[in-house]
Amino acid sequence: MTPDDAVRSALCTHMGREFTAHFQYLAMSAWLEDEGLPEMAGFFARQAAEEHMHGMKFFRFVIDTGGPVRIPAIDAPRAEFESVEVLVSAALAQEEQVTAWIDELVHLARDHRDLATETFLQWFVTEQVEEVSTMNELLQVVRHAGPSLLLVEDYIVRRQPATPAA
Ligand code: FEO
Repeated sequence: MTPDDAVRSALCTHMGREFTAHFQYLAMSAWLEDEGLPEMAGFFARQAAEEHMHGMKFFRFVIDTGGPVRIPAIDAPRAEFESVEVLVSAALAQEEQVTAWIDELVHLARDHRDLATETFLQWFVTEQVEEVSTMNELLQVVRHAGPSLLLVEDYIVRRQPATPAA
């Protein structure tokens, strides 16, 4: 069965959240760039690109299952952070929130006996495990580094040496 109106609407709402995450990570990248932390800025720019890709997966799925796509309003992202630790904590909280939303969508699809949507969402269930784990690890590294933020820059280079910044 393909999505009914309630599922379709929930998918479009969530598409908006992925685009919100895209803009939030972009704003974080800009703040980090301004702080003179180019590797962290690049890391968040790459995360932003991933969130855009996530939003587009929902966009494509809704179209492929009959549409219509309704793009919700996107709130302006938070642009100021008291510290790098506050920024990464906010990113982790965002990933945990997205995980909870994905779980809710899976339950909604199950309630509506919508196997196509449930199967589509499985990729996101797995992806969120990785995204939460990545952000958790980064937060731990930031806490260990304390004021020595160049150690965090080194960690990102070692973790993802071959991936160019956006
Ligand atoms: Fe698309 Fe990081 O959640």
